[in-house]
Amino acid sequence: MYIPEEKISDILNTADIVDVISESVILKKSGRNFFGLCPFHSEKTPSFSVNPSKQIFYCFGCSAGGNVLSYTMKYHGITFPEAAKMLAHKYQITIETKAISPGKRNQLNLKEGLLRLNKTIMGVYFDGLKNSKQGEKARQYLQRRGISDEIIQTFKLGFSQDSWDAIVTVLKRQKISRKVAVQSGLILERKSNNGYYDRFRNRIMFPIFDVNMQVAGFGGRVMDDAMPKYMNSPETPVYTKSRILYGLHAAKQFCRQEGFVYIVEGYFDFLSLYQHGIKNTVASLGTALTSDHVRMLKGYASRMVLVFDSDAAGINAAKRSIEIFMKEGVDTRILVLPEGNDPDSYMVKHGQDAFNDLASRARTVMQFLLQVAIDTHGLSVEGRIRILEEMKPHLSLIRDSALRSLYVKELAETLNIDEKAVLEKVREQYLKQDTRTAGLMNEKPDQAKLASDRREEQLISMMLNYPEILDEIKRRDVLAYFYSEKLKRIGKKIISVDPDTTAFITNVMAKMDTNEDQALIASYAMNDIVSEQDMHQTALVIINRIIRVRTKQENTLTTKIISAEKGCDAELMELLKQKQAEIQQLQNRL
Ligand code: UTP
Ligand code: MN
Repeated sequence: MYIPEEKISDILNTADIVDVISESVILKKSGRNFFGLCPFHSEKTPSFSVNPSKQIFYCFGCSAGGNVLSYTMKYHGITFPEAAKMLAHKYQITIETKAISPGKRNQLNLKEGLLRLNKTIMGVYFDGLKNSKQGEKARQYLQRRGISDEIIQTFKLGFSQDSWDAIVTVLKRQKISRKVAVQSGLILERKSNNGYYDRFRNRIMFPIFDVNMQVAGFGGRVMDDAMPKYMNSPETPVYTKSRILYGLHAAKQFCRQEGFVYIVEGYFDFLSLYQHGIKNTVASLGTALTSDHVRMLKGYASRMVLVFDSDAAGINAAKRSIEIFMKEGVDTRILVLPEGNDPDSYMVKHGQDAFNDLASRARTVMQFLLQVAIDTHGLSVEGRIRILEEMKPHLSLIRDSALRSLYVKELAETLNIDEKAVLEKVREQYLKQDTRTAGLMNEKPDQAKLASDRREEQLISMMLNYPEILDEIKRRDVLAYFYSEKLKRIGKKIISVDPDTTAFITNVMAKMDTNEDQALIASYAMNDIVSEQDMHQTALVIINRIIRVRTKQENTLTTKIISAEKGCDAELMELLKQKQAEIQQLQNRL
């Protein structure tokens, strides 16, 4: 279902966010804002705020934020069109579906068609497991693996018949469009070009739901040692593997309650944990975790525990994932299971108390990396030197100096090397990383970046709270001087909204592509420390500073390059050019 943009605007201009949120949260007024207990994370003192004049909400505890539409989606776990419909209904706004471009219509039709088809076929597989004769061995298989009927029901597990055309026949009978059927990956074209055959045959079927409870795709497991063990739907317009985590639709509320999430690899790992009451879990389905995955999870939990097998493949997968979690700045723990176990087999063998006990002793990333290094190199003299070399770059990346010194101390003790010597090594590494970008700038690079970020963020806040300044910003093309690409992108969206619209901020939010950007807008909009009468003056000061700093920095480098060119100092010139590029890159970093 497609909702025309004007209708979205109507909803945003008519709905009252305090009114809507009051239905689910008890709000108390304090100053210009209302406060209450955040429905998106557990807390005892209210940090969830709603601003009636800006029509936005923002939680200072978990950084959830947005407008009345994003609140409705997030609170009820429903899609954008569903939330729009719900609010439209509440405020008696009629939505007639409007003609949209044929290209977009086709794409929407295809997506809807795929979701509808997947749902139908989920029903077929489910019925195959429950009621068919062939399904008996599948029922026995699941029983052998300890999967309860309740879990089968909740996650709609199924069985695909041992047949080449069971699904082909269903599709024909139901007159499903061939294009949709082929795109879904449920059937494949025969090589000889005469007809189609079923992808999933004689397998236990796992529907893969997206966060909105729609069936995005399927996985299927054989019931013996045949290969491949698992078969999966291909990527489709409704199934993007880098963005889907198995079980998140069911786990999200528990992740919020607990404040953390276990990340396991397999279907059975997930189901087994869930069945044993550990419901704040998702499965990556054996694909590499991406930053999209991590960002999605961040909306539900601030701490993540990666659960891995202790075999080489598991350890390597853990090592690969760590970097992504570090980059996203998430508190990450690693839980390596005892030799020969995966989460499912461990749970079946030892039960949930044992699992919880093990989980409470999950290692920090540093402890994990250190243990892996020790296991690899041993604690001989050479081994210890190698371990130090291996840990050095990790340690130098820790920004918090107190935390870093704690780890340095721990490492020194473990390796029985003088703490000062370890510190020296880490500092060496730190300087090596630092001089690559420092030097030419007056401020240290991190500080320069912080300062420019702060200025740019402040201007974004002012653009939201004082849209009168937008004309000036357009006139002087201020966004072109932004270092942060992210803020530049957000700024561009802001200036694309007419400053005279009522409910300006919430209309800006409607332009954002992701929930994350919406929450960012909410946090910038809440940041209104400048008083009304000083707005104009302060904004001009910030604008000037942004333009001046960037122009000056580029001039300094250009002058140096020119004089190096004159003096024919090729080496220096090369270095300078490299620096210029590096600084550019550094500043463009998100
Ligand atoms: P595992 O091989 O660890 O299997 O793969 P598992 O989940 O423990 O399954 P059981 O317990 O033997 O039944 C982990 C995950 O990797 C994906 C699946 O999502 C699986 O759950 N995988 C594995 C595939 O996609 N294809 C394969 O051939 C194997
Ligand atoms: Mn397993």
